[in-house]
Amino acid sequence: MEHRVRRQLDRMVDELRAKGCIRSEHVADAFGSVPRHLFLPGVPTTRAYTAEKAIPTHFDENGIPVSSSSAPNIMAVMLEQLSVEPGQRVLEIGTGTGYNAALLSHLVGDTGTVVSLDIDAEVAREAEVHLDAAKVGAVEVRVGDGWLGATDKGKFDRIMATVEAWDIAPQWYDQLETGGILVLPLWLRPGLTVAVAFEKVPTGLVSRSMAYCGFMPLRGPHASGPLRATLTTWPNQQTRAPASGGVVAVLDEATPERVDALQRLLQLRATVTSRPALFAGWNLRLTLEEPDPICFFEVGEEPRNSIGIFDSRAASLALVDGGSILSFGGDSCRQRIIASLERARPLALESLVITALPEPALRSGDADAVLHRPNFDFALRGLSTTHREGA
Ligand SMILES: C[S@@+](CC[C@H](N)C(=O)[O-])C[C@H]1O[C@@H](n2cnc3c(N)ncnc32)[C@H](O)[C@@H]1O
Repeated sequence: MEHRVRRQLDRMVDELRAKGCIRSEHVADAFGSVPRHLFLPGVPTTRAYTAEKAIPTHFDENGIPVSSSSAPNIMAVMLEQLSVEPGQRVLEIGTGTGYNAALLSHLVGDTGTVVSLDIDAEVAREAEVHLDAAKVGAVEVRVGDGWLGATDKGKFDRIMATVEAWDIAPQWYDQLETGGILVLPLWLRPGLTVAVAFEKVPTGLVSRSMAYCGFMPLRGPHASGPLRATLTTWPNQQTRAPASGGVVAVLDEATPERVDALQRLLQLRATVTSRPALFAGWNLRLTLEEPDPICFFEVGEEPRNSIGIFDSRAASLALVDGGSILSFGGDSCRQRIIASLERARPLALESLVITALPEPALRSGDADAVLHRPNFDFALRGLSTTHREGA
């Protein structure tokens, strides 16, 4: 590797350590050994070695990315969560460029195995080319729906999805050894996707750690129902420059009727009012405790987002936008945001525990909230504790 590129790679690893994304020598060694630029041909090395940049590589007809190399900072966090040991059998869902598969291959070493699945044949073929270029031989890349796992391969010690899931595939659960770890970006609520490390216990899966993240959604027949709507403009036309890329709204049940209702509200002129002070975890409280959260984000290099509440029945939408609340239509959502902010009950992601229970074994009586999905119930605990900064 050229000296200049080696320095860029080392700087990225130093930064990932300094930010606490890399915490172990094992993961540091993997990042230091796999040249990311070989998985991103045509991308300048300065960009390839930026710790916080996801680099989109394939787009759909609306210009929305459908494949990328995820940002190294979140990859490092998730690899630490996965805690891979030499000799283990690892399944990855979402091969993308193949970079993460190469890191996994380094972590399992010569005696371990990595199987990586991508639903997109072109993406998978390119990943194989990149893995060859980087001389990573021990990854088996497969074209297929990762939801279905790799059942011919028996059990895995570790399973990692690098694509956002709304539920857990029964196949991932069945293929994970008891005591094994599944790490995935789990869509909890609109605007709240969390990288969760679940340990498999005899009754289900229990979260051991969580980190905020953002990932592109799983595609194919097992994709979630509609949770996103592509908009033509940012909600606040009055004070913001139009978005350079697309604007996406994330909401529960993004059915055509609800998206129409949303678009109609967005045609109205926004009322801009001041908001109460924010507190640590205000957005976590809002998205977990309000029945109709909504999140808007701009697709692009510097994604901006806003969180709020959308009640289609009351024809009301409000969102926190910088120091203000923007509201459209009825006032009820604005009032709900104000009430949530005024309650000022700080909450930290680390104080939450999620237990994923395979249906129908629902034993979540003492949970603070339960998210019901077709394959699993996700029981949340820790919401009633108020997190104090520094406590
Ligand atoms: C964020 S990228 C993965 C990044 C990748 N791990 C890397 O290191 O470059 C997400 C990938 O998931 C793939 N994907 C989406 N739905 C899938 C599915 N149902 N099964 C397998 N792969 C899927 C996409 O084609 C895309 O390549």
